[in-house]
Amino acid sequence: MKRILVTGGAGFIGANFVHHMIAHSDSEITVLDKMTYAANRQSLEGLDSKRVNVVVGDICDYVLVNELVPQHDAVVHFAAETHNDNSLHDPRSFVNANILGTFEILEAVRNHSVRLHHISTDEVYGDLELDDPQRFTESTPYKPSSPYSASKASSDLLVKAWVRSFGIEATLSNCSNNYGPYQHVEKFIPRQITNILAGQRTKLYGNGKNVRDWIHASDHSSAVKRILESGESGRTYLIGADGERNNLDVLCMILSLMGKDENEFERVADRPGHDLRYAIDSTVLRTELGWRPQYTNLEHGLEQTIAWYRENRSWWESAKAQTEERYRSQHVTDAVGVAR
Ligand code: NAD
Ligand code: DAU
Repeated sequence: MKRILVTGGAGFIGANFVHHMIAHSDSEITVLDKMTYAANRQSLEGLDSKRVNVVVGDICDYVLVNELVPQHDAVVHFAAETHNDNSLHDPRSFVNANILGTFEILEAVRNHSVRLHHISTDEVYGDLELDDPQRFTESTPYKPSSPYSASKASSDLLVKAWVRSFGIEATLSNCSNNYGPYQHVEKFIPRQITNILAGQRTKLYGNGKNVRDWIHASDHSSAVKRILESGESGRTYLIGADGERNNLDVLCMILSLMGKDENEFERVADRPGHDLRYAIDSTVLRTELGWRPQYTNLEHGLEQTIAWYRENRSWWESAKAQTEERYRSQHVTDAVGVAR
């Protein structure tokens, strides 16, 4: 895979993937990114400009997509609207980017016979009970809950249909919750770290018992590289690092690593329709493709992530105020009127 088109490469995981590929392969990369609020140009700074080219544009732009796709050996498709809370307030932008955008990518790879890897999420499978012994596998039925996860599920189904009906060469992966550098401050872990760095109180939705299965973005990147190298067309691979923790535990870990008392948080209004638990069984990826995560200690990974946000204030400071203002304007309140 010499020439790779990475959609959404200026976002969190896309940027981590570009850094990973530049460090661990000889690929040349074109990033196609609309530069929405979630993108950050600084995330791609310092990379060899002979190997990384950034094109600002929309995956829904038929002309641009059909110009770029044939110049590459593969497309790795990260671009999406990704924040569940936003999808409850503006579902249209999720349908446009995630469903119609993926449709344009699919038509272009079909027309030009270019290999596709589609990036998706474990949220397409809905949620699990806290005591359910099962985890999500490649054969778990789709049951998305939010407009975001429904739009990602729709995009996955389009990819599967294009494989079956048109014979495109495509793989899919569904990954659990990522953390690490370059993640937008709207998301749980960076929101809490930057709240503490900015002297604000951390915010926990509801009772904090919801479980997420955390994986470092660098491990997600190495898994996608592995699938690009050895994945079988038409197959889905689940990516996870056995990182299940409830939100209260993660928040307490962050508070303690940052020298704060573990009670220094505010319980705020819960997310409507809030998924209870995600958990990934990544046996297929591990046994068939020999992939292993490097970050197996969440506390250690969080320590590094906290250090990154501490040392890179200029990367996040301008987005912080806008993000908190957006949360306030979304006016989510609970039964007793507590807002976020
Ligand atoms: P992000 O929100 O940080 O970045 C998304 C990027 O896509 C941004 O740079 C944005 O500008 C770009 N984009 C959005 N709409 C676009 C459009 N129409 N045209 C071109 N670019 C557009 O997202 P992320 O957290 O890095 O997620 C990347 C992908 O990984 C998504 O497909 C997401 O569903 C998936 N995923 C995320 C996680 C997670 O924990 N964050 C877990 C599993 C899967
Ligand atoms: O599982 C993969 C998914 O993980 C990805 O597909 C999504 O793109 C990504 O955003 C993420 O979705 P979540 O909704 O799980 O992530 P978020 O960071 O928004 O929230 C993580 C958990 O933390 C969730 O249970 C809600 C809670 N939360 C979130 C915020 C922002 C809080 O308790 N307080 C907060 O301030």
